[in-house]
Amino acid sequence: MLLYDEACEFIATAYHELGKNAEEMHDRLAVIKESIHRYGTYELTGEELAHGARMAWRNSNRCIGRLFWRSLTVFDARGVQTVSQVLSALQRHIYFATNNGAIRPAITVFSSHVRIWNDQLIRYAGYETPDGIVGDPISLAFTRTCQALGWQGAGTPFDVLPIVVEVERQGTHWFPIPASLLLEIDIHHPTLPQLDRLGLKWYAVPIVSDMELEIGGLRFPTAPFNGWYTGTEIGARNLADTKRYNLLPQVAHLLGLPMHSDTTLWKDRALLELNIAVLHSFKAHGVTIVDHHTAAKQFAYFEELERDAGRELTGDWSWLIAPMSPATTHVFHRDYDNVVVKPNYFSRRR
Ligand code: ARG
Repeated sequence: MLLYDEACEFIATAYHELGKNAEEMHDRLAVIKESIHRYGTYELTGEELAHGARMAWRNSNRCIGRLFWRSLTVFDARGVQTVSQVLSALQRHIYFATNNGAIRPAITVFSSHVRIWNDQLIRYAGYETPDGIVGDPISLAFTRTCQALGWQGAGTPFDVLPIVVEVERQGTHWFPIPASLLLEIDIHHPTLPQLDRLGLKWYAVPIVSDMELEIGGLRFPTAPFNGWYTGTEIGARNLADTKRYNLLPQVAHLLGLPMHSDTTLWKDRALLELNIAVLHSFKAHGVTIVDHHTAAKQFAYFEELERDAGRELTGDWSWLIAPMSPATTHVFHRDYDNVVVKPNYFSRRR
């Protein structure tokens, strides 16, 4: 689609939602048309950017947390020029989003002169060692990249990787995240102290930094954003997947579960206790987290509000269902139309 047509579609919808009148919309479209004619592109106002980023969250088919799309705080960092300004903007994002544990959804939008190499701002390193992988296997390649840039990790299973920033004509730079900005939660089980022996922890805020925001035909390849965690992302995937921390065998062992046969469901029992520990620990530290049942109920309310607003709901069932006990939530028992509506967030490797 032509840029102007994309702009028209976005402005028409956004201005309607923002309660602006037809005259404002037509004046704005005339300015956009002129700009595209002269420069081949146009710029969003701060208000358009903020509402567009929120619409993009609302349209994110894989996200179960979309009820809260209106609450997204949008930091406009399009004017940021230098590497140190980028770093300050990222630190502000982490500080604001973390908020001592009362997690706030936020996005920081940069111009395309700025690139971030991390796929999340906060992630644990993964190392290939003679005794096997230490840390998060998902980070093996990026950890090697960081090491090639001169970073060195302590070699624990939970070394936080540095942030790697590339700015046009200013090269590539890496920065450790200041410890004072990092909120991590030690994982304890409320009644099974054996699990403490695993020495597990996880970080408070997932800040996705490898997706491109598209609004009105304009693309923002660097726009890190965060919500808060659903417990299962950590307990049923990050710590449990065989290709991630693969901890179910160790958990089951510490719990003394009968592991001689799959039929004893030792994996399911270990998974359940691990997820209880994750939710309990975040709650005990006062860090925002949601369990998959509550998240599904919130999503049901979102479905209702979208219907009332006269919008077609879109979703990706295979991502919306929880990775444990999926059939205990309504999401499992209906279907969703996975058509892509813009504004939206796209994998940068599209
Ligand atoms: N699943 C990813 C992780 O475990 C995070 C993706 C975003 N999640 C969120 N709750 N906003 O790190």
